[in-house]
Amino acid sequence: MEYLKLYNGVEMPVLGYGVYQVPDYNECKRSVLAALEAGYRSIDTAQAYQNEEAVGDAIKESGVGRKDLFITTKLWITDFGYEAAKKAFETSLKKLQLEHLDLYLLHQPFGDVHGAWRALEELYKAMKIRAIGVSNFYPDRVMDLINFNEITPMVNQIETHPFYQRTEDHSFLEEQGVVHESWAPFAEGRGEFFNNEILSSIGKKYGKSIAQVTLRWMIQRDVVVIPKSVTPSRIKENFDVFDFKLSQEDMEAIAALDQNESQFLNHRDPETVKWFGKLLKN
Ligand SMILES: NC(=O)c1ccc[n+]([C@@H]2O[C@H](COP(=O)([O-])OP(=O)(O)OC[C@H]3O[C@@H](n4cnc5c(N)ncnc54)[C@H](OP(=O)(O)O)[C@@H]3O)[C@@H](O)[C@H]2O)c1
Repeated sequence: MEYLKLYNGVEMPVLGYGVYQVPDYNECKRSVLAALEAGYRSIDTAQAYQNEEAVGDAIKESGVGRKDLFITTKLWITDFGYEAAKKAFETSLKKLQLEHLDLYLLHQPFGDVHGAWRALEELYKAMKIRAIGVSNFYPDRVMDLINFNEITPMVNQIETHPFYQRTEDHSFLEEQGVVHESWAPFAEGRGEFFNNEILSSIGKKYGKSIAQVTLRWMIQRDVVVIPKSVTPSRIKENFDVFDFKLSQEDMEAIAALDQNESQFLNHRDPETVKWFGKLLKN
């Protein structure tokens, strides 16, 4: 495994396993066990994924030592605010059956972000969390959080894949010392991702799949990846990305695929913010 060092010295695996859209307990537990068996040591879940219990049970059953694991979960916006965040953190920890978290993220840049962040800062100082960060924050929101608080986030997890490469975000985050983590490395298959001819032809040169080429491309850009799959063969395939290196020419060919546009949602569109606001009122 390769690692990226966060600015506080914590080492984060460059490759982890994500469990978004795996709400079924048995499927999630079985898949996390398969991932741990394949060699993954970093697992990315969230309060909103409703599968923290399954992740916790899989970790326990796997027998992998706690110090070898890197466990991330995320605080959902309905629990943003200082008091609610502290409570939700304890609930997540209990569901995961852990004494501490490796990384805790604010899932979205909406609602009482600053109140929630102060709770995370306190939990970090109390050594209940080894690193704290954010997700779906555009550079302006990251900058505001840095300006207004004591601790700079260590990680920002944002949509990143060949069609939405986040080059400017990456430079900004690097300047601030924040590690860039990708979500949806395969764009969840959107835009005919798994039929892309450029990625496929690059893969053929190395005897690797489109998925493997994509993960390798991000790792070479110092972007952390957390691909999701519930298919055992794909779980293994996505882990097998450390025995080759893409040439500069191939890195550039992938760079040319950037459409610089989300395949999912624009967090800056007032309609998106309105939609999230409705969740807060429910
Ligand atoms: N912070 C956020 O707001 C946020 C948002 C989205 C995701 N995330 C995190 O990022 C993780 C990854 O993103 P994602 O789950 O949205 O999407 P993704 O990893 O881009 O794509 C997952 C899809 O690709 C398929 N797949 C996986 N490996 C494959 C392979 N080698 N060949 C062909 N198909 C393959 C999976 O199918 P099967 O499962 O059927 O094999 C699944 O349909 C999530 O699980 C979650 O942890 C975070």
